[in-house]
Amino acid sequence: MPTILITGANRGLGLEFTSQYAADGWQVIACCRHPKGADELNELAAANEGIVVEQLDVNDFTAIDVLAKKYAGQPVDILLNNAGIIGPFPIEENIERQHFGSMEYDVWADVIRTNTFAPLKMAEAFLENVAASEQKKIINISSTVASITEMAIPGVAYASSKSALNRAMTIVASQVKDRGVIVAMYCPGYVKTRMDAFGYATVDIPDSIAALKPMIADLTIEQTGSYTGHDGRTIGW
Ligand SMILES: NC(=O)c1ccc[n+]([C@@H]2O[C@H](COP(=O)([O-])OP(=O)(O)OC[C@H]3O[C@@H](n4cnc5c(N)ncnc54)[C@H](OP(=O)(O)O)[C@@H]3O)[C@@H](O)[C@H]2O)c1
Repeated sequence: MPTILITGANRGLGLEFTSQYAADGWQVIACCRHPKGADELNELAAANEGIVVEQLDVNDFTAIDVLAKKYAGQPVDILLNNAGIIGPFPIEENIERQHFGSMEYDVWADVIRTNTFAPLKMAEAFLENVAASEQKKIINISSTVASITEMAIPGVAYASSKSALNRAMTIVASQVKDRGVIVAMYCPGYVKTRMDAFGYATVDIPDSIAALKPMIADLTIEQTGSYTGHDGRTIGW
């Protein structure tokens, strides 16, 4: 039975990943900041013995080490770095506080910590678990807005945090390739989650995950370091 560890599993894309992998019979280590308030995830876990809910704020690097110690020796086929933030809410503040001309640098630092530092820390902490598994995959939920060549949204903090995630993970990819570990970045599409603060999203959550899962399943070591959309398109860096 393969195992997947998912961050930010309590809602949005993370919850749907949890649901769909569990339905396929996977063991799911479903991490979230506040398990007590994670009603949908807890209901899912109560109905499926393959799901274990773990408390994890990905910005707490000591907690990441503690969790990794708890799972020492257990193979993790997929480490799924899903948790992320787009910046402050409501959306008017989000625009004001991370745009050129009115940038709040503490906001940028918070976004970078969650979207860039934390996935790297998770990869460091769980590398041995992934390397000991059959599938050996580190999957990062990035975004098309990270593309330097394709998109130029004005949200500097969010876009640059995902660009930095991509760069960091391509370096990780090259460093772990000789151990057979595959690292990949995916954009899930513009999906109707809470992150869709503008209300413009076009993709339903189940459709996004149903599109990503087969691509993740088919990933080979030759594709390590790749950056792909939910439609299968290679995204320009
Ligand atoms: N929706 C889109 O259109 C879109 C497009 C491109 C990329 N993405 C990426 O997709 C991923 C999932 O986002 P989503 O769309 O599902 O948005 P979402 O509904 O806002 O979910 C974000 C998830 O991340 C968790 N999270 C945030 N900070 C955390 C922390 N410090 N520790 C642990 N968990 C934390 C949240 O937990 P709490 O409930 O505790 O806040 C929540 O579970 C993100 O990386 C996002 O950047 C989304």
